[in-house]
Amino acid sequence: MNDMFVVRGRTKKQSLWGSITVGGAKNAALQALAFSLLFKDAVSYERVPHIEDIDRMCELLEGLGATITRGDHAVKVEYLDTIETRLDEERAKRMRASVVLTGPLLARTGTVQFPFPGGCVIGKRPVDIFLDGYRALGAKVSEDDGEFSVKAISKGERTLRGTEFFLRVPSVTATQTLMMCAVGAEGTTVIKNAALEPETESLATFLNECGANISGLGTPTLTIVGTGLLEARGRVYRVPPDRIEAGSFLILGALAAKELTIDDCEPSHLEAVIDAVRRAGAEVDVGASSLTVRAAKKLRAVDIKTHEYPGFPTDVQAPMVVLLTQAEGEALVFETIFEGRLNYTEGLARMGASIKMWDTHRVSVHGAERLHGKELEGPDIRAGLAYVIAGVIAEGETVIHNAYYVDRGYESIETRLRAIGVDIQRMTA
Ligand code: EPU
Repeated sequence: MNDMFVVRGRTKKQSLWGSITVGGAKNAALQALAFSLLFKDAVSYERVPHIEDIDRMCELLEGLGATITRGDHAVKVEYLDTIETRLDEERAKRMRASVVLTGPLLARTGTVQFPFPGGCVIGKRPVDIFLDGYRALGAKVSEDDGEFSVKAISKGERTLRGTEFFLRVPSVTATQTLMMCAVGAEGTTVIKNAALEPETESLATFLNECGANISGLGTPTLTIVGTGLLEARGRVYRVPPDRIEAGSFLILGALAAKELTIDDCEPSHLEAVIDAVRRAGAEVDVGASSLTVRAAKKLRAVDIKTHEYPGFPTDVQAPMVVLLTQAEGEALVFETIFEGRLNYTEGLARMGASIKMWDTHRVSVHGAERLHGKELEGPDIRAGLAYVIAGVIAEGETVIHNAYYVDRGYESIETRLRAIGVDIQRMTA
């Protein structure tokens, strides 16, 4: 638990070389494991990343009564016993994605109790939209001593009622959770201003193959005709490639690779990142399922504004800021999704970056400044990886404590990075 990463900075520019393979998307695999609750029979998964958050999600499902079998990047989930309706408090508080379970659980059992979900401290991250969605679907919501209780009002097999619901913010997990919940409702649900992140389409496509009726995929209006519990009949959900991991590797390559190929990714999901990296001066070749990047001799400052998909992803903002510390000129970075997601820049400033914070949503980065290795505390999953990337281009040694955060999101990162020339070690304190 107390592991840390020690990264020794490159001795010369453009020292990385080779290829790196992208794993399954954390933020599809977690949600897909949650949808197992919508099935009468066993659901199998492949390309499931071997990361901390998946372990936590499996434990949460087991706590609800699931029988889980795990293999090499494979998981099988089935419910042989009675299903519990209360999420394990301690585990649910460790991970934001625990809230996703509440939708399919409510659809299946008509009731759910859960604590305020935890997760990375990157902003307020309320659950009001989920709760309003459940109310709209005909459930009663109460809160007592920090625990939410949601109960379908009507009795019977399919206790929730289809509805029209407008998301005041296109929240990714609220879209996915309410979509799953509506599969189990009676009648038709229309979700408006739905998030467009491609993982939602991947989840819905599989659900449709198994009997669900979800349309409007890839658009802001999802229509779900409630069908009740689904049957997988041996179908396997293949987790799509992690676009956040791919985008972060692309940035690492743009900073430090003679040539780096990122394999097994979906370039069409990465247009905003590819565009930003190219505008900054790096060369990117786009293949059918791979990207090849060569570092620029000189990087140029580009302004970044995070945005819901297909805009620039907030989860790639921290690695991009590391790139901007090496770019000539001044770049404004506007984090529009989360108000606490720029705090990690303080660590980069300690390494020598010239960063000015204007407010909780905006920093300007003045480059190019040489970074120097420092001891840093990994603050969340994505910023933890950004510190690793900063360590690669810094002079001297960078120690990133709290490797746990990086392990939550990236499988065996040190082994994979070492294979392309990064000098990184894991140390156990
Ligand atoms: N929001 C509300 N009320 C709600 C829900 C969300 O106001 O009930 C607000 C949030 O406060 C935020 C905005 O909506 O300002 C968007 O947040 P969203 O709900 O879309 O984020 P999320 O669903 O909690 C997922 C990913 C995050 C990723 C964001 C944005 C998962 C498990 N998490 O979070 O991933 O940053 O979408 O793309 O899918 C990560 O993987 O490190 C991570 C933080």
